[in-house]
Amino acid sequence: MKIAIRYFTKSKKGNTKKIADFVSEKLGVEALDLTNALTEKAETLFLINAMYAADVDKEVKEFLKANKENIGELVNVNSSASGSSTYKAVKKVADANGIAMSEKEFHTPASWIFINKGRPNEEDFKRLEEFLKQFKEAE
Ligand SMILES: Cc1cc2nc3c(=O)[nH]c(=O)nc-3n(C[C@H](O)[C@H](O)[C@H](O)COP(=O)(O)O)c2cc1C
Repeated sequence: MKIAIRYFTKSKKGNTKKIADFVSEKLGVEALDLTNALTEKAETLFLINAMYAADVDKEVKEFLKANKENIGELVNVNSSASGSSTYKAVKKVADANGIAMSEKEFHTPASWIFINKGRPNEEDFKRLEEFLKQFKEAE
């Protein structure tokens, strides 16, 4: 398997699911939640996540630990209200588990309560589409 997509969100139809569906459509690979273990090695794993309480959640930590043998390289795709990326928090978990993490990442500011209404918006998805092109071209 060249590419796998997994996402973690606390919201059923929120920003992360929208982003995961977009990535899935652009790469032609199904996006599954973290209850779906990697059954074979993925050269590139897109981990689509969001910042909750300034950290990554235990589900993400547990998934990475349990699936580390099947992750070639991890690509972080994430959103937050503050505009800060989850990269550092995810990298810490990746490092602890010996998982290679790509320096390439996608982050977008996203809506939360009254902040960043309407985001990710059309422009954000355009940026995401551009970001994904490099992985299609590398196939
Ligand atoms: C419970 C909760 C806690 C959050 N904590 C933070 C935070 O600490 N920092 C931040 O920048 N955004 C925070 N956010 C905003 C989310 O990162 C942002 O809304 C993200 O797009 C949520 O994705 P979702 O719609 O898939 O849940 C929080 C959102 C929720 C629901």
